[in-house]
Amino acid sequence: MLSYRHGYHAGGFADLLKHAVLSLIIDYLKHKPAPIRYIDTHAGAGIYNIGGEMAAKTGEFAQGVGSLEFDDFPVQLKVYGDLIESYLFQERYPGSPLIAADLLRPQDELKLFELHSTEAPRLQELFAKDRRVRVSPTNGFLGLPPLLPVQHARALVLIDPPYEIAADYTDAVTSLKAAYLRMHNGVFALWYPVIDGAPHLPMLNSIKAFVDSKLWHFELAVRDESVRGKMSSTGMLVINPPWTLATDLTEAFKAITQQLPFDSVKFSAECVRD
Ligand SMILES: C[S@@+](CC[C@H](N)C(=O)[O-])C[C@H]1O[C@@H](n2cnc3c(N)ncnc32)[C@H](O)[C@@H]1O
Repeated sequence: MLSYRHGYHAGGFADLLKHAVLSLIIDYLKHKPAPIRYIDTHAGAGIYNIGGEMAAKTGEFAQGVGSLEFDDFPVQLKVYGDLIESYLFQERYPGSPLIAADLLRPQDELKLFELHSTEAPRLQELFAKDRRVRVSPTNGFLGLPPLLPVQHARALVLIDPPYEIAADYTDAVTSLKAAYLRMHNGVFALWYPVIDGAPHLPMLNSIKAFVDSKLWHFELAVRDESVRGKMSSTGMLVINPPWTLATDLTEAFKAITQQLPFDSVKFSAECVRD
């Protein structure tokens, strides 16, 4: 049984990096009219109450998006900033599928996977009237590869597992590899945490071994060292990123790192393969 609930973490510093990356990629892909197929293998509930008990219990929202100054938001992230601000007025924070649905166009489509017995029905309800969206309450690692390749269209895949079980690290590699081999030119984004013992490193190395196109890692570190049970950094691996992504993120996070309430905040962009 799954215990992870994203409501405790919504709008934290990990969502900030992940959703900034997602918004920038979608914004870039929309420069061409061809349809986009967006696949979210671990979609969550889609929208979160940031004024409720879950957010208060961890304080992660307050230390993440809740600490940002929207009057002085980096221009590179305007699309993300404007979208988020419109939800914050209602004490809500949008998850990845809602951000994607809001930014995508009528000709695009969204395939969302969510396994949790509470989150999946909420996600289905949220998108019940959106004909572009298909929600599947099944395993996203297994559901991803058969959805590729996409003919006459572009594909954007977000893989965002909770890593509450060790198998998530290996399942992410297996699923991503199968998907990438079916569609080399898709854009693939994988979220990973940097925690004690660095279990993300073997995963990143395995991915590097089969990817032969552009590959970048983006990390936002909020502590110099791992505190037991806490993330020291949050990371996004992106295969085939838009060429503007690294520059835009680097510029935008110069300002954002100043606003986050941690003693030491660093953003890094590493080109693994060009
Ligand atoms: C980190 S949360 C997703 C957050 C969301 N992507 C966002 O950015 O707003 C991970 C979600 O994956 C779900 N989950 C865990 N294992 C899964 C699997 N194998 N397939 C589909 N969903 C899964 C969990 O129930 C949880 O809601």
